[in-house]
Amino acid sequence: MTVLVTGGTGYIGSHTCVVLLENGYDVIVADDLSNSSEEALRRVERITGKTLTFYKADVCDRAALDRIFEANKIDCVIHFAGFKAVGESTQKPLEYYDNNLASTISLAKVMSEHGCKRMIFSSSATVYDGRNVPSPFSETDRTGNCTNPYGWTKFMNEQILRDWAASDPGVSVVNLRYFNPIGAHPSGLIGEDPSGIPNNLMPYISQVAVGRRDHLNIFGNDYDTPDGTGVRDYIHVMDLAEGHLKAVEYAVSHTGEEVFNLGTGTGYSVMDIVKAFEKASGIRIPYVIAERRPGDLAELYSDPVKSKKILGWEAVRGLEEMCRDTWNWQKNNPNGYEG
Ligand code: UD1
Repeated sequence: MTVLVTGGTGYIGSHTCVVLLENGYDVIVADDLSNSSEEALRRVERITGKTLTFYKADVCDRAALDRIFEANKIDCVIHFAGFKAVGESTQKPLEYYDNNLASTISLAKVMSEHGCKRMIFSSSATVYDGRNVPSPFSETDRTGNCTNPYGWTKFMNEQILRDWAASDPGVSVVNLRYFNPIGAHPSGLIGEDPSGIPNNLMPYISQVAVGRRDHLNIFGNDYDTPDGTGVRDYIHVMDLAEGHLKAVEYAVSHTGEEVFNLGTGTGYSVMDIVKAFEKASGIRIPYVIAERRPGDLAELYSDPVKSKKILGWEAVRGLEEMCRDTWNWQKNNPNGYEG
């Protein structure tokens, strides 16, 4: 079985490549390296002792995709490639819609032309209508009412792929809604390497720990949560990667479209994360309480039951392991892949 991984040099993509290679899949990565480093793939090969094929290609470039499908017999595609910065998406909505939708459409068209009809899509919990629906979110809960263009691109891509699956009985689409992936491969060789100032909590904390940032800003401590800080469903990236393996197996044995949450079902607050990280690293994280971040919800966590029942997958790694592995990656690679 050969799996094409778009965006395979990125954070979740690289960890998924490790799991695929370790489970006997041949892996082809297509990535334009616009927000990542090819070094991640060398590390994936080091971890697994296996090789993969890399194409430097933009997934919007149909001719480039065509060449990849001409040269390889691809059984399944995992589509991670896309722009992902929430704040930036509100500044550059047209770029986000153009890139994130055009890539999915190009990919599905080229796949169809080559008779490859299995796609796993990298969606997000952000598609849930969190302003009107309370946590925990299950797959049947209402979606839409997204707070930013990034979220809408996830919502629209799900719909595009759902319609593709409805139009052709041979197509299999799995839309995976991620909650908050953190952590790293336990080797410390691959991990999250955001460019610029991190938008997300865990990479920000780990950059404070390693001395790249002065202090953490906690966005609000007056939410209706146990300690007043925002609650999220943090999931170890290796659990998430294993969820993709299960999704590939599911796509091979089913047709049609399905959606699955990938979360733990447990919510932790920003303060819980700070304390757990301090314990795992032995380093104190200075913080100040700042204004709420626009668009943030008090709490957002998953109902993971459907994934367990149907995919046969559940998250098994706890918060301590998530913090330990994040720190192991960050302290060994203080400046990410460039360092
Ligand atoms: C964010 C995105 C979501 C995206 C996900 C990808 C927003 C509104 N949502 O989710 O669409 O799919 O990342 O991982 O951006 N926090 C701080 N200080 C910081 C950073 C974060 O206090 O410097 C808090 C936030 O207020 C929140 C929690 O930490 O309560 C988690 O934030 P973050 O890691 O950015 O994830 P989400 O906002 O849940």
